[in-house]
Amino acid sequence: MLGWFLTILSIYMNKKRQIIVTNALPYANSALHLGHILEYTQTDIWVRFQRMKKNDCFYMSADDAHGTPIMLTASQKGISPEEHIHDVKKSHEADFRDFLISVDNYYSTHSSENKELCESIFEVLKKNDHIEEREISQAFDSKENIFLADRYVKGTCPVCSAENQYGDNCEICGATYKPLDLKNPISVLSGETPIEKESKHYFFKLSNFSDFLKKWLSSGVVEEGIENKLSEWLEEGLNDWDISRDAPYFGFNIPGESDKFFYVWLDAPIGYIATFQNFCAKANLDFKEFWKSDSPTELYHFIGKDIINFHALFWPAMLKSANMRLPTKICVHGFVTIDGSKMSKSRGTFILARDYLNNLNPEYLRYYYASKLSNSAEDIDLNLEDFAQKVNSDLVGKVVNLASRCSKFITKGNGGYLHSKLDDEVLWNKFSAASVSIENYYENRSFSKAMREILSLTDLANEYISKKEPWRLNKDPKNKDKVISICSMGMNLFRLIIIYLKPVTPVLAERSELLLNEKLYWESAQSPSINHKINEFEPLLHRIQKEDIKSMLDSANGGSK
Ligand code: 2FM
Ligand code: ZN
Repeated sequence: MLGWFLTILSIYMNKKRQIIVTNALPYANSALHLGHILEYTQTDIWVRFQRMKKNDCFYMSADDAHGTPIMLTASQKGISPEEHIHDVKKSHEADFRDFLISVDNYYSTHSSENKELCESIFEVLKKNDHIEEREISQAFDSKENIFLADRYVKGTCPVCSAENQYGDNCEICGATYKPLDLKNPISVLSGETPIEKESKHYFFKLSNFSDFLKKWLSSGVVEEGIENKLSEWLEEGLNDWDISRDAPYFGFNIPGESDKFFYVWLDAPIGYIATFQNFCAKANLDFKEFWKSDSPTELYHFIGKDIINFHALFWPAMLKSANMRLPTKICVHGFVTIDGSKMSKSRGTFILARDYLNNLNPEYLRYYYASKLSNSAEDIDLNLEDFAQKVNSDLVGKVVNLASRCSKFITKGNGGYLHSKLDDEVLWNKFSAASVSIENYYENRSFSKAMREILSLTDLANEYISKKEPWRLNKDPKNKDKVISICSMGMNLFRLIIIYLKPVTPVLAERSELLLNEKLYWESAQSPSINHKINEFEPLLHRIQKEDIKSMLDSANGGSK
């Protein structure tokens, strides 16, 4: 509660904030797709906005490197898990870089820092009597010699007799059950019938934290819709959490055990701290200060709606027990759909980040996602026709066109110098004052509202130029001063639009900075650019061509692979 109050106070008093920002760590098992890119774009826009406001953001991410699927994929490939996660990390890093994601450190949960942190946090939880050992029985594949997670057992639903159902729930009738309740269960790994086998597991006593979580979650750490969902879960009662897995497993050994490992979901969020620790060693910062329970630094986690329980229940409970700082905000987004449906390999709409990058400019998608993102967890539809139409009309037809219409008169008619006076001060003031509402939209992750406001300003700017018709006035040399004054006004409006768009389209902004011959910050919107020399106009952005989208879909369909 106090943390959130201090955040609001800092924003209000315009005090420099220090913020650690994280994304969900993608599994080091396969290539990234446009769903991952939604979350990273959302986070990156927020981070870039904070940096423009001159706040200190430490943007941390990493690959989530542990667990059974990663171990199995490596073994199918005939390589070690370490080699496998190394290769995948390289491809993730390249994709994020090319989507202009400005992380300060991209690390891996398979690190010495993370191992030590997991061990030490586990010891504290144990000392606090929050860990319990229990014998449990699970499905076991005696041929492969491995305990089977629910998803590795298939069979006939015990309720409706639907065939080929997973071991946790039936996709046909919705029933939930244990894997060995299935009729004719088989192990997905060997095709053999699993047996039931007992082993010792470690549980984190989550149920001890119900009261704490109820209070903490009502302090504004999540948006209202998410808080309601969490309250329902809390009302139903929390189960203790199994944090161990039996060998064979790719992960960290539990201290004192040779064949038991921490469950990947225990070490993954601790990976946030480990990534920050690794960053601090390079940046010469004292990382422990940032994780003390009373640290004034803010901590923002951006995640998808499928992993709320891990971040809003298990994780804060662990941090609380370990007497470490709690998250300031957990920002939850929805899933990406393509043309109204779930991304699907069979429909050819499972678009990898690289399929997109090989064909289209990353800023198009960044802008499109921004124009749809709100602070709720609603799904975001990438409608490909709307995408092309919107980018071409808004960014190319309206924003870039404004600069291309105005700048040439300045270059040719005034040696590149902007006029010393604004032609319409009232209009400029209106644009400048909009920084307050746009700033609030960015801060609250209401990006679609920010984009709508920026676009309506762009419409006003284009209307202003169309009404003033500098191209017509320019036919008479007597009007030279008027033409320069109008076009300088146009360039000043363009400048404000670019300031507001900069978190979303950083390359467009960089090119515009070159044109405007100045670096733009949020506070640059407080004063106009007058008597200032600008550079010659170079094309800033090209239109999306239909063929590029087609070619992307072809490669998603395996066409170019
Ligand atoms: O759901 C996932 O893709 C997980 N790899 C996210 C982990 S987030 C964090 F806890 F590390
Ligand atoms: Zn069923």
